Amino acid sequence: MGWSEADIPDSGGRTAVVTGANVGLGFEVSRALAGAGATVLMACRDMGKARVAAEGIREEVPDARVDTEVLDLASLDSVREFASATAARFSDGIDLLINNAGVMMPPRRETADGFELQFGTNHLGHFALTGLLMPQIKELPGSRVVTVSSTMARVGRIDFDDLQGESGYSRTGAYGLSKLANLSFAIEFQRRLALAGSPIESMAAHPGYSATNLQKAGPRIGGGVGSALAAPFMALGHRLLAQDAAAGAAPILFAATNPELPAGSYVGPDGPGEMRGSPTVVHPVESATDREVAERLWSESERLTGVSYGLPA
Ligand SMILES: NC(=O)c1ccc[n+]([C@@H]2O[C@H](COP(=O)([O-])OP(=O)(O)OC[C@H]3O[C@@H](n4cnc5c(N)ncnc54)[C@H](OP(=O)(O)O)[C@@H]3O)[C@@H](O)[C@H]2O)c1
Repeated sequence: MGWSEADIPDSGGRTAVVTGANVGLGFEVSRALAGAGATVLMACRDMGKARVAAEGIREEVPDARVDTEVLDLASLDSVREFASATAARFSDGIDLLINNAGVMMPPRRETADGFELQFGTNHLGHFALTGLLMPQIKELPGSRVVTVSSTMARVGRIDFDDLQGESGYSRTGAYGLSKLANLSFAIEFQRRLALAGSPIESMAAHPGYSATNLQKAGPRIGGGVGSALAAPFMALGHRLLAQDAAAGAAPILFAATNPELPAGSYVGPDGPGEMRGSPTVVHPVESATDREVAERLWSESERLTGVSYGLPA
């Protein structure tokens, strides 16, 4: 029998922050954590959607402790405001941070700070958020940060001369880079936490292939012929191959809550090609474990965001 949400330990008294919580995997993660008794802060860029989502969770989990707060990962100002609001809200600190939000394969666009949208939102936004929330994450066993990557990390290449996709933008390449950066970050973060002797653990997870808004939302930005042509293929892929969002959320929930999981683990589905199935520990792509690259990406991310973790390297 595979792992299921019912295996999440009682999370009463625990506090979780979930990014991109209004829909898709983030919604399912928030619902399941709230169902296990955690207080969940749903960090979303659109408060209208966030409130509807929180109401949806309350309908399913009548005693759910869920609340919403605005977070736009494509703006460092918003990330800073969110971190301050979270510190004010949870004076006792937070137990879990789920770095889940993401955008996939839009035409080339930039964040408010001039970063390429996918690298800027998926990686730099979460890098800044995690660093700013560090003082709030409880220095206790069981405190975890889970960063969501993808099998698409395999197609990512970290080119330090062109992190922003300025010389020849590829939608797929930029998405792959952002997801490789997520994975490299999660592994390097754990290495630094261990060096500091911190009980906080960094995990990574990927959902396989899950039917969510992701495959539609990115290409829809700016529209264009590419997105119109891709839509029927995406719909067919969803019908034939994808697992539902709740199943896609399972590796993230397993990474966040399984007490036996070693620090620094990467969790994905156990089926063929890691596309679907029950959560299990999977191997990160080799390029994500290159320490020299990870250290350089870390320094670049600190420089670009202006956020420093103060951890030993
Ligand atoms: N679905 C899959 O098959 C799959 C596979 C591999 C990895 N992943 C990863 O799983 C994660 C969740 O994706 P999903 O499938 O659940 O996609 P989704 O249904 O499209 O949800 C993405 C979430 O991210 C939010 N978001 C996008 N840009 C944001 C920003 N600038 N600031 C704050 N939030 C932002 C979206 O908000 P709005 O609703 O306002 O747009 C939404 O809540 C992503 O990191 C993705 O890369 C998914």
